[in-house]
Amino acid sequence: MFRLIDDIGIDLGTANIRVFVPGKGIVLREPSVVAVSLPDKNVLAIGERAREMLGRTPGNMQAVRPIVDGAIADFTYAQKMLEFILHRVCGFNRFLKPRVVIAIPSGNTSVQRRAVRQAALGAGARIALLVEKPKAAALGSSLPIAAPGGNLVVDLGAGMSDAAVLSLNGVVLGRSIDVGGNRLDDAIVRYLKTVHNLSVGAQTASEVKNTIGTALPLTKELRTEVKGRDLVTGLPRTVDVTSDEIRAAMADCINQIIDRIKSVLAGTPPELASDIIERGITLTGGVALLRDLDQLIAERIWVPVRVADDPFDCVALGIGKMLEQGYDLREDIAIPAEPAAI
Ligand SMILES: Nc1ncnc2c1ncn2[C@@H]1O[C@H](COP(=O)(O)OP(=O)(O)OP(=O)(O)O)[C@@H](O)[C@H]1O
Ligand SMILES: [Mg+2]
Repeated sequence: MFRLIDDIGIDLGTANIRVFVPGKGIVLREPSVVAVSLPDKNVLAIGERAREMLGRTPGNMQAVRPIVDGAIADFTYAQKMLEFILHRVCGFNRFLKPRVVIAIPSGNTSVQRRAVRQAALGAGARIALLVEKPKAAALGSSLPIAAPGGNLVVDLGAGMSDAAVLSLNGVVLGRSIDVGGNRLDDAIVRYLKTVHNLSVGAQTASEVKNTIGTALPLTKELRTEVKGRDLVTGLPRTVDVTSDEIRAAMADCINQIIDRIKSVLAGTPPELASDIIERGITLTGGVALLRDLDQLIAERIWVPVRVADDPFDCVALGIGKMLEQGYDLREDIAIPAEPAAI
């Protein structure tokens, strides 16, 4: 039977958007990219089709990522993207607008939060509510956050790494840093430029990271060929790169993320800290899939680390749980956390 959609949960990520509809699960997973015509700025494509256009558009088109480091960087395009998503998920109905729940990083400022809410309302939401990303990630990875006890979840996304301690359904301490998968990609671009005189795009760097990237040295090194443009001759060139080179290129960024996690643990009340030492840390987000990252964090922090079952989907699944289990979402609007560092 046809049922109108009343509630929608959105993980508005820097790289990817996921949409959860109660009773249906995750109904949409798309890159957060929008392609528009110029100068009239009509939407041509959104998601995967728009992503393919990134860096490949002629002068009369533009492909944009409206979300940067977990916050709206281009309000108009973010609103257009949300409008398209609501339209696709709910169909066109100008009278029955859905209630939209969006997860945002714990370090977002009140201006950034307001922008997300306004974009959702402008895109056709009846009500726009915000929830903290680490809380959604913790629920989505099935951590028992309703009970009294410390749970440390670290959401490692493309734009942000968000670490938070949760207990009794609330964030006790949350800290985020704008270092995520994109910074790792940038570090690889810089490395290839300075060491191999090779110019590559962020997408190529991302593929290298995802295929041979590792946080710890491997007993059997991996290799891959990277195609780019020679900075001296200006001609196309292929370079052979090893996993250890990529590990070294990413090391600084990874250290910054680990320092953030350490600072959260250092500020955690002792009772909760002892729970965390026992239960361990849970990693969510796409970067949690980086080879041996869990092992490196465990070695540096001396706490067991596990990667959640569906690291990419945890935040959306967590918002879904909040919607399906009738959480009082009004309380999640005020977010007690420190602003992002750097
Ligand atoms: N196997 C892998 N190894 C390392 N990184 C990976 C891997 N697979 C995906 N990633 C990275 O994960 C990131 C995307 O993760 P995710 O979809 O969780 O981010 P997001 O939710 O869009 O970002 P954010 O939460 O920061 O706004 C990208 O930077 C991508 O390159
Ligand atoms: Mg995310």
